[in-house]
Amino acid sequence: MDPRITATLDRLHQEADRDLPRIAMGFARSLGRKLQPSHMRDAWISIDQAQGQWLMELAERLGARNIVEFGASFGISAIWLGAAARATGGRVTTTELEPNKVVAARRHIAEAGLDDIVTLLEGDAAQTLADHAGPVDLLFFDGWSDLYDPLLDLLEAKLADGAVLVVDNANMPGSARFVASLRSRAGWTLGEGPSRRVAVATFGSGGRK
Ligand SMILES: C[S@@+](CC[C@H](N)C(=O)[O-])C[C@H]1O[C@@H](n2cnc3c(N)ncnc32)[C@H](O)[C@@H]1O
Repeated sequence: MDPRITATLDRLHQEADRDLPRIAMGFARSLGRKLQPSHMRDAWISIDQAQGQWLMELAERLGARNIVEFGASFGISAIWLGAAARATGGRVTTTELEPNKVVAARRHIAEAGLDDIVTLLEGDAAQTLADHAGPVDLLFFDGWSDLYDPLLDLLEAKLADGAVLVVDNANMPGSARFVASLRSRAGWTLGEGPSRRVAVATFGSGGRK
């Protein structure tokens, strides 16, 4: 991997490893209310290094050229996906709602030398991804799980045959419900993720049409 990408990821993962107090602060901010993205504006809540490596290798194996991510946070997973897109000659489109995260993630993506490959759209993914042009080869859902269903409705017609959907935190209730719903959604086949935390599903070929 490009040393700029490795150095940036090493630094960002070290920072993300110190997330516990920020996550605790996020829950304190929400104080009995439904947890909102703004409550977690300082928390990285990112994938770990092993997940990043797995995600990059998956994207490379698929030869994914059009990669879409929901939930950029501070940019860690977007950088892993960007590293894959550099290898496949592809592009990554990612989305983030929280303005402070957008600014920082863009800085981190540039630091990794991937700003020509990764585009970060600021705002609500339900709007920012509405005009995204397909065919999408790889979709990574790592945002707020109540948006997964509507987002899939929005993007399904733009998916390539054989497109892969990866869902992080699949062992948490909201995401688990969404993943279970894929069993009865036409065209989808659930596969084996690398761990209970990560679900993988394939659209089209091999699935129910
Ligand atoms: C779990 S974090 C993403 C972590 C990131 N994928 C990583 O591994 O570095 C989820 C992110 O989704 C963002 N988010 C939540 N709802 C959103 C929405 N409607 N549109 C865009 N981003 C949203 C949150 O602000 C949060 O930063």
